[in-house]
Amino acid sequence: MKSWNHSDRIVAPSVLAADFSRIAEECSRAITAGADWLHLDVMDGHFVDNISFGPAMVEAIHATNDIFLDVHLMIARPNHYLSRFIEAGADLISIHAETGADHDISPSLATIREAGCKAGLAINPATPLEMAEPFLEQIDLLLVMTVVPGFGGQAFMPEMMPKVEDAVRLREKHSLSFHIEVDGGIDPQTASTAAEAGANVFVAGSSTFKAPDIGQAIRAIRES
Ligand code: DX5
Ligand code: ZN
Repeated sequence: MKSWNHSDRIVAPSVLAADFSRIAEECSRAITAGADWLHLDVMDGHFVDNISFGPAMVEAIHATNDIFLDVHLMIARPNHYLSRFIEAGADLISIHAETGADHDISPSLATIREAGCKAGLAINPATPLEMAEPFLEQIDLLLVMTVVPGFGGQAFMPEMMPKVEDAVRLREKHSLSFHIEVDGGIDPQTASTAAEAGANVFVAGSSTFKAPDIGQAIRAIRES
């Protein structure tokens, strides 16, 4: 498995915007078009007001290709489900820092890493970076949400960029190396804004899977 560092630009199409009736072909389409990772949004109808898919879908996608799977858990009690996503083939699992997720963050991050997966911590637009600060040494990726999570196709929130800049400063201050991922409303233009702030992983659903030319869309985000 290739490894990436935080100076690499990584484009992660979000499968939430794919055609679920042809999921294997959709994943192949994104991979052939140059996707670095696939971003899998798991939603339970409690932590967010939408239901997407669970470990069975992660496993099905894992069975059809060997691309890096970036699993974003937007669920209550993520600790209760971690082993199922690990067994399903996740390469990276992000859990949310918010109290609504109702779990113990530090042991969850440790469980993910002990299983040989990369660990991510996600923060909603309303959540200050301070909530993630105590856990920065335990993570491989900080996910700064640039929309309120739950649905694809929402508008990017540029007011989240100071949070990305502060995360870069904290990373330098503590000599850490976690990736900074942005998720929500990412297209070539907003990716450029986020890259300037210091993000290096770009989740993009609508602007990739729904583009007339997905390869061109992925390249435009990478080169933005
Ligand atoms: C939002 C999800 C995103 C979503 C992004 O709740 O976490 O990953 O799929 O979709 P777009 O790129 O369409 O904003
Ligand atoms: Zn996501």
